[in-house]
Amino acid sequence: MPYENDQDHEGDGVDRRGFLECMAWAGTGLVWAVSGGVLSSRAFGAGPDRKGRGDFTFVQISDSHIGFSKETNKDVTATLQETVAKINTLPRAPDLLIHTGDLTHLSKPGEFDIVAEVLKGARAGQVVYVPGEHDVFTDDGKQYLRRFGRGTMGTGWQSFNHQGVHFVGLVNVMSLGLKAGGLGVLGKEQLDWLRNDLAGLTSSTPIVVYAHVPLWMIYPEWGWGTEDGQQALSYLKRFGSVTVLNGHIHQILQKVEGNVTFHTARSTAFPQPAPGQAAGPGPIKNVPAEKLRSMLGLTSVNFIAGRRSLAVIDSTLG
Ligand SMILES: [Fe+2]
Ligand SMILES: [Fe+2]
Repeated sequence: MPYENDQDHEGDGVDRRGFLECMAWAGTGLVWAVSGGVLSSRAFGAGPDRKGRGDFTFVQISDSHIGFSKETNKDVTATLQETVAKINTLPRAPDLLIHTGDLTHLSKPGEFDIVAEVLKGARAGQVVYVPGEHDVFTDDGKQYLRRFGRGTMGTGWQSFNHQGVHFVGLVNVMSLGLKAGGLGVLGKEQLDWLRNDLAGLTSSTPIVVYAHVPLWMIYPEWGWGTEDGQQALSYLKRFGSVTVLNGHIHQILQKVEGNVTFHTARSTAFPQPAPGQAAGPGPIKNVPAEKLRSMLGLTSVNFIAGRRSLAVIDSTLG
């Protein structure tokens, strides 16, 4: 069932018609509308008459794990291609496509090649990346950086402005490795960079932060959180609208804390169990083939400057 949070929608820019159109498009998708923030948006599919100056959309995809070929999904390239096809049917081409890491399963050159090739087919203005632990564990991220790190700093972090929104991509997988239970780490150098990066911005600047491992503590027992994430979040507190987008856990989880909204994305490759609902993290086995695509998907974010609410819309491949 689609879920819509029960906050007051009056005047928040998410109209019923737009919402229903969105759901028709999104199938089993999920609309998440937050009112009271500075960011503003509307439901996907609202008519062109609703478009204002400076509005745009962007899409987040995550955890493509190219090279994974176990029972749950023996063709992860196909599901990534289906994800791109879905992006290409969006009524409006996204300005940005953000991949939040675990592009590959084993950091092999051929796996990176496939990711680059498939994403070339996406109708999106610009593709940006942060690495997942699966992209960096064999060589400390050297290959990832050479291929996908253009314009980034340190181990691949970066920031840029787009239509008045400040985007920050953070890397929290460098000392994570593949060991289960290892929390994400940003490190002092990156945190210092972040503090400086944000220092010149007015508090009314909408901020979108993206990183692989969730910045908030979801389930530390499985390494689903970032050790020094709170430090990063303390620098973001003064801003009126902060959206934090993560991957790694292969399922949607969300929370709102003050002006900060947190959201994790589905994988394009395979689902993982809900926190604590299995012996440990990893692909859910025994997913019936006909059910798999309902557990994979992408996240669209629609932004309009000057309105109050942000809508994050998840849709599945199924
Ligand atoms: Fe992953
Ligand atoms: Fe991961």
